[in-house]
Formats: sequence, C-alpha cells, structure tokens
Amino acid sequence: MDQPTVIAIDGTSASGKSTTSKALAKRLGYAYVDTGAMYRTLAWYCLKKGADIHNARSVAGYCRRWKTELTCVNGHVRLVIDGYFPAKEIRTEKTSAAVPHVSAIPSVRIWMKKIQRDCIQFGDLVMEGRDIGSNVFPETNYKFYLDATLAERNRRREAEGVMENLAARDKRDSQRKAAPLMVPLGAIHIDNSNKSVDEVCNFIVAEMKKITRAIQAG
Ligand code: DC
Repeated sequence: MDQPTVIAIDGTSASGKSTTSKALAKRLGYAYVDTGAMYRTLAWYCLKKGADIHNARSVAGYCRRWKTELTCVNGHVRLVIDGYFPAKEIRTEKTSAAVPHVSAIPSVRIWMKKIQRDCIQFGDLVMEGRDIGSNVFPETNYKFYLDATLAERNRRREAEGVMENLAARDKRDSQRKAAPLMVPLGAIHIDNSNKSVDEVCNFIVAEMKKITRAIQAG
C-alpha cells in the first residue's frame, strides 16, 4: 500500500500558513495538522499548572508526564489533553508570549516530532509549522515555504485584532538551536503578499503535479 502523502507548509508568523493549509487540506481531502497549536497547548498547560516556562527542565517534565491523545474532527487533527481540547485558551496573548520559550526546548521538540509523525494514522496530511520539511517529515517530496512582507504580515495580524511583534518572534524562532525556522532544503518558496488563498492553493497543487510527474518519470 502507498505511504500517505505529507504536504509540509512552513513559514514565518502570519504568512498565511493556517488559512492556506486548511483550504488546501479541504480541497484535497487531506487531514490538516497545525503543529503550532501543539506547542501552544503545552505552553498553556504549563502556565495552567503554574510551571516556570523559563525553566527548561520543569517544562520538559510536564511534557513527559501529560496525558495526551490525538483525534481528528472534521478533518482537523487535535492534540487533546486530559480529554480536553483548549481551542480558545491557546490563542491568548499570555500563551503566545510563552510559546517561543517552550518550543525552543530540545526535549520538547523531540516529543513533538514523535506525536506529529504519529498523525500519519489519519492518512494524507497537510501539516503546517516551522520545521516540518526540515525536521518532522524531511523525507516528503512536497515542501512549501510561505512568506509575505513584514508590512503585509503586520496588516493581517492587526485585521485579526492581534497586536504582536512579528519580527521579534521570527527572529527568536529562526535563531534557536533546536530545529530553527528555515527554508527547508528543496522547499518551494512562495511570497503571497499579493496573492489570494485560492491562487496560492492552485499554485501548490500545480507544483505538486509537476513533482509527482518528475518522480514517476524517474
Ligand atoms: O504557528 P503559531 O504562531 O501558532 O506557532 C506558535 C509558536 O510555536 C511559534 O512561535 C513557533 C513555534 N512553532 C515551532 O517552533 N515549530 C513548529 N513546527 C510550529 C510552531
């Protein structure tokens, strides 16, 4: 039987990864995985437990012990913790500020990589994040890197009502030692500053067809 297909969508903050990945997954009938939400869930859980998120050993301990489960609801994969899916809580300013610290811890990234690879149980995937093509599924043939100008990304965040220093977050994500944000080897770079979601999805599907043809041609 063929292995499930994984489309890796990496990119900077507010580069349209979520919107594009959800639309693409729906169009292709693939399951959608938001790996940022998984790091956010751990950050939220640590804050809830009163952990010091600057203490890597403490955070790593919570990550080792928490009781999690993967589920797939309406084509979206969820990391459920103690039977609960914290959809809204993980989007607060407090959690957003904590998540880069949590996601920089090497043992946390090892744990996340395993659970993210386990998502293959749900079949073909569109998985978005910062290290999917470089670290989580480096073997996939379908790697895309989304970006937009900083001005455009700031405009998108403001339209969502979120105030955030995107340049600072990207810098932290790019400069950490463990699985930093980077353009994965072989990824197709897409600047979507002036493109609609549909245009980007069309482009990705067309590029995938070309890649598949090239593989089949040997
Ligand atoms: O995509 P997001 O804003 O929800 O991601 C939240 C944080 O998690 C972001 O600062 C980078 C980090 N992250 C990561 O390090 N690796 C991933 N695969 C996904 C997100």
